[in-house]
Amino acid sequence: MRTASLALALTLALQSAYSFSFPAVHSQRVCGVTGASSLPSFRCNAVGSSKTFLKSSKNWEVDHQASLTPKYWGDLARKNLDWFKDFSITTSGGFESGDVKWFEDGQLNACYNALDRHILAGKGDKVAIIYEADEAGDVTEMTYKQTLDRVSQIANMMKSEGVKKGDVVTVYMPMTPDVILTMLACARIGAVHSVVFAGFSEDAIADRIAAANSKFVFTTNVGLRGGKTIKLKQTVDNAIAKDRAKAIVEKVFLFKRTEEEVNFVEGRDIWADELLAKQSTTCEAEVMDAEDPLFILYTSGSTGSPKGILHTTGGYSLYAMHTTKTSFDLRDDDIYACVADAGWITGHTYICYGPLLNGATTTVFESTPLYPDEGRYWDMVERLKINVFYTAPTAIRSLMRFGDESPKKYDLSSLRVLGSVGEPINPAAWDWYHNVIGGGKATVVDTYWQTETGGHVACNLPGIHVAKAGSCRGGTYGIDMGILDPQTGEEQVGNDVDGVLVIKKPWPGMARTVLGDHERFMTTYLKPYPGNYFAGDGARRDEDGYIWVTGRTDDVINSSGHRIGSAEVESALVATDEVAQAAVVGFPHDIKGEGIACYVTLNNGVEMSDDMKKSLKMAVRSSIGPFATPDMIINAPALPMTRSGKIMRRILRKIAGGENEFGDTSTLADPSCVPVLVENARN
Ligand code: WTA
Repeated sequence: MRTASLALALTLALQSAYSFSFPAVHSQRVCGVTGASSLPSFRCNAVGSSKTFLKSSKNWEVDHQASLTPKYWGDLARKNLDWFKDFSITTSGGFESGDVKWFEDGQLNACYNALDRHILAGKGDKVAIIYEADEAGDVTEMTYKQTLDRVSQIANMMKSEGVKKGDVVTVYMPMTPDVILTMLACARIGAVHSVVFAGFSEDAIADRIAAANSKFVFTTNVGLRGGKTIKLKQTVDNAIAKDRAKAIVEKVFLFKRTEEEVNFVEGRDIWADELLAKQSTTCEAEVMDAEDPLFILYTSGSTGSPKGILHTTGGYSLYAMHTTKTSFDLRDDDIYACVADAGWITGHTYICYGPLLNGATTTVFESTPLYPDEGRYWDMVERLKINVFYTAPTAIRSLMRFGDESPKKYDLSSLRVLGSVGEPINPAAWDWYHNVIGGGKATVVDTYWQTETGGHVACNLPGIHVAKAGSCRGGTYGIDMGILDPQTGEEQVGNDVDGVLVIKKPWPGMARTVLGDHERFMTTYLKPYPGNYFAGDGARRDEDGYIWVTGRTDDVINSSGHRIGSAEVESALVATDEVAQAAVVGFPHDIKGEGIACYVTLNNGVEMSDDMKKSLKMAVRSSIGPFATPDMIINAPALPMTRSGKIMRRILRKIAGGENEFGDTSTLADPSCVPVLVENARN
């Protein structure tokens, strides 16, 4: 069902019209057919007339105001989801005590809504999943009916092996449809999935199994990515061999990606393909309370171990569905492709739940943007006739390096919406995405959000807003976004202000807690600025009312779209025999957005050398995963500390970024360490 505003958005987009919310900008814009390239950071996505501009401007503000009410979500929930039992309370609780609930006395099942509902509506033969395997052109399609059959078999297999409602199931799988189907099968029987990105190390898996007390693990013998074989089962075996996981894991469900033989533990391991083939294709969907957990997903913070972010059934489902529909202007006959990994929140919300809850056709992409060559995405877009394509600026930048020739070989005219996620998209990448990939026509949508927000919380909506390259514009439907003074917590009203980014009202898709540690949830998100959700990002609202995320205010590093806690990298380094102390920071990196720089103080008698740098990089790789491999190891006989003993990371960031101006260093206990670090960073 479409809301009035969405219908308007569709009409506008169909007319290839744009509209705009902030009249102040309209007067200065120079938007032509392909965008305002004369203004460096100001881009428009499509052409239109000032008539549409004025009309939509008014409507967006009215629609947005209306969306900030419980009624908006209550109406949508009834219209767009099937409930086993209707709810009478739309929302309760609040930020004060962190007890936000949505639709709490309603009952539903997320898997039923993602599959059965569409089949009952006559869409059983529609393609639900297109699987683009590692080898280009190796494509398999699954209809909604086929998807439900296999999900039901996986669900029945789980039940036959003792998985029960509420159990946490760890999923460590490559990007084949089975990872999505396993998530849905968990949802079907009320088990809580905890997907661990298949690039994480055995230590990281063991930690997550232990933290969630997860008795069941799903994996495959191997994964295939970019022509390489990844030994997933072996990593799982190594993880379970660790004491903290050994005592917990009872069963390992093992899919086959290839015929490669792997270690098989009798009594614990189960060949999933064989067992599920014997299962019935019917499995009744468990009746879940709206606030029953749907999944947990571990994410990095600035301190301590990763947090198990918990999302619940009703609110998350509605929010995933609604944002997919509105942010991408998703249409029923679209071919939709989000090329993230299921192991991150983007894969959860925008490969699995969001598209399928909308009854759309989603793509599971197993390979890399560079395999077999840098034309892989564009070859896939041409072959599959993809309309909505969603990736991260880091991928765009890595492909831009190869020039325009490669994308120009392909017919990319099917593309209508180009999504971006993970960091602000820099103007050069925006231009390339819009003009070279999108032919100057496709809308670039910059989606700002987090694991904790469940779905997009800010973006320029296609057909409704004009984009500015690098700005996520502002709060989307239902999101009341604010900027606060970081010290006083006072709201910075009006335009041309900066501070910390907050959301002022609860929304259905927000995380409810950190598994097993509600106090940590409160202290991280809800206590820093009472009455608000604190995102952990800094932001500026420009003179036209557009929000620009300026990056994390904590020590989280955003490298190649992966969220990495500096504390995790530091603890991997100090766990080695050679390192006495470590300080890890992000620094600007052309392709990755941020690179990882590690300043290490070595133990007495240990010398820094190229081999030592290599071995420390390896230590981080094996402790966290290859995606966290440091870019720089810098010998730090001493670290810049304030007199109160706090490391001044600001200076470390600047040194790693090659800067020479460090601002005020007078508060340092010993400023003489700075030139030494500058020298060492250059070697
Ligand atoms: C950053 C990824 C600017 C931000 C979905 C956030 C962004 C963190 C954007 C969450 C964007 C994500 N513009 N910054 N469009 N999207 N971020 O949990 O710092 O892996 O707090 O979720 O990524 O990372 P996470």
